[in-house]
Amino acid sequence: MLDKYKNSVVYQIYVKSFCDSNGDGIGDINGIRSKLKYIQSLGVKYIWVTPFFCSPMVDNGYDVSDYRNVNPMFGTMADCEAMIKEADELGIGLMFDMVFNHTSNQHEWFKRALAGEKEYMDYYIFRDEKPADWTASFGGPAWDYVPELGKWYLHLFAPEQPDLNWENPKVREELKEVIRFWKAKGVKGFRFDVLNLISKPKDFHTEAGSGTRFCKDGPRVHEFIRELVTDTGIEDMITVGEMASTTLDNSIRYTQPQNHEMSMCFSFHHLKVDFKDGNKFALMSPNLKMLRDYFSEWQEKMSDAGGWNAVFWCNHDQPRIVSRFGDEGQYWKQSAKMLGTFVHMLRGTPYIYQGEELGMTNAHFTSLEEYRDVEAINYYHILRDSGSSEAEALNVLANRARDNSRTPMQWNSGANAGFTSGKSWLGIPDNFKTINVESEEADADSILNYYRKLVQLRKDYPVISEGAIKFLDTGNEKVFAYQRTLDNDKIVVICNFSGQDETISGIDVKGSILIGNYSGSHKIMRPYEALVIKA
Ligand code: GLC
Ligand code: CA
Repeated sequence: MLDKYKNSVVYQIYVKSFCDSNGDGIGDINGIRSKLKYIQSLGVKYIWVTPFFCSPMVDNGYDVSDYRNVNPMFGTMADCEAMIKEADELGIGLMFDMVFNHTSNQHEWFKRALAGEKEYMDYYIFRDEKPADWTASFGGPAWDYVPELGKWYLHLFAPEQPDLNWENPKVREELKEVIRFWKAKGVKGFRFDVLNLISKPKDFHTEAGSGTRFCKDGPRVHEFIRELVTDTGIEDMITVGEMASTTLDNSIRYTQPQNHEMSMCFSFHHLKVDFKDGNKFALMSPNLKMLRDYFSEWQEKMSDAGGWNAVFWCNHDQPRIVSRFGDEGQYWKQSAKMLGTFVHMLRGTPYIYQGEELGMTNAHFTSLEEYRDVEAINYYHILRDSGSSEAEALNVLANRARDNSRTPMQWNSGANAGFTSGKSWLGIPDNFKTINVESEEADADSILNYYRKLVQLRKDYPVISEGAIKFLDTGNEKVFAYQRTLDNDKIVVICNFSGQDETISGIDVKGSILIGNYSGSHKIMRPYEALVIKA
C-alpha cells in the first residue's frame, strides 16, 4: 500500500498566492489549471491544494463555512472539476485539505448552534462555566462567552474558528460525508489540518496554558482517525495528517500501515529549533544540535518501527527556509540547494512548497500595514503590549510571520512577478526580478533545475525511496551526514549547514557523486555544500 507514494514527491499550492487568472489580485483555481504543465515538469506525483472552500477568510480559508462548495473568490465547482480532470490527465493526483478540527463561525452548523438549536450545539464544545484559562493559537483566550446562550465555547484558533465536538457521532458522520463527496469527484488524497487536536481531554478543568498543548494526541484520537479512514475507504489513498507538537510514539502509531490511520504525518519539532524558550515570537539563531538530534532520532526510529514521515522545510505557515536556515545573500543558491538535498534524500515523502524550488525568500515587509495574516497582526499587538518597540516587533514579524511564505509565486520578472495583471493581495519581494521561474528555466544550474534532479533521483534509486536510514558522526556539529541502505546499495549524504568551510572526519566518502551543489568532491565541506555519494 505504501509503495505508491514512497518514490513520490508532493507539491503544495497556496491557492491565494499561486496564480491569478482574472486580474483581481487573488490566485484562483483557473490559475492553477494554467500552470499544471509547469508542476508536471517538476516530476511530482501529487499536489496538495490548500483550502478553497467557502469561507469568510478570517484565517485564509482554514475557516470553512461550506465544505462542499468552492469559494467564489477562487472559482466555481466546474473549474474545480476541470482542475481535477486535467491534473489526472497529466498523471498528477490532487490532495484536498480537510479542516475538520473546527469550522468557521459562519458555517450553518454554528449559526444554528448559536440560535440555540440543541442538536447543533452538540456539534461544538459548549460549557456553562469557563473550564480554565486556555490561550488560543493566534493569541487571546480559547474560551469565548456567548451571552445569548449563557455558555462558553472552545476555539483553539481564532474566535471565528469554533472547535467541533468529535465525541458526537453525528459530527463524525458529517465529516465522512465530506470525504466521500470529494473522493467521488476524483480527488486522489487528503491532507488533514491539525488532525491530532480533534480528541479533546475528558476533563477541561486543567491548568491554564496553551489550549493546543492540552488537546494534542487526545484520548480517542487514534480511534477517530481510524474510523474516519476506514469508513470512507481512503486507506489506499495518500493521506497526510498535520500533527501539532506530537510525540514520536504517536507519529509511529499514526502511520504504521497496520493501524489504518494516515499514510504519513507532518511534525514540526525541527521548525522550532530557532524558537527562544520554545516561543515562536522570540528570536534565536537555529540550534543545529537540536536540529540534527531531531532528525536522527525521528528518522531512525520511524524507520525501525515501519512508520512513514512527510519530510519538508516549508509550507504556508513557515517562513522561507533559505532565509531561515540558509543564506539569502552570497550563498543563496548553494544554501537553497543544500537544504533541498538534505530533505529529499531522507526517508519519507518530500513536500515542496510553491516557490521553494526557486529559492524564494522571506517577504521583507517593513510596516504592519503590509501584513495580512490574523496571527501576525495579533502578535504585533501582543509584542507591543509586552514592551517591545515598534522596530523590535516588526523585526520579529519579518522573521516569523506566516505572510513570509504567502507572498505571490514569482513567475517572471514582469509586473507583479507574473502573478497577476491586477493588484496583488499581498506584497511581492523586490528580488522577483532575479528569483523567478522564467529566469531559472533558462539557467541549467538553477535551484529549479536542481530540484527537478532531486525529484527524479527518488524515482530512479530505490535506496532513496525505500532504504533504511542511519545518521553518521562527522565530528562537526555543523555538518550533518546520513546513510541510506537497501540490500547492497548504499548512499551517503553530507550537508554543511554553515556558511564557512568545515572539516569533517570519520566519513567514508568513496564512490560516485549522485548530486551535489559544488563541482568535484572535497575533503573540506565548502559553505553550504551538499554531497550525495553512491558507494
Ligand atoms: C493549520 C494550518 C494553518 C491554520 C491552522 C488552523 O496549522 O496549516 O494555516 O491557520 O491549522 O486551521
Ligand atoms: Ca483571481
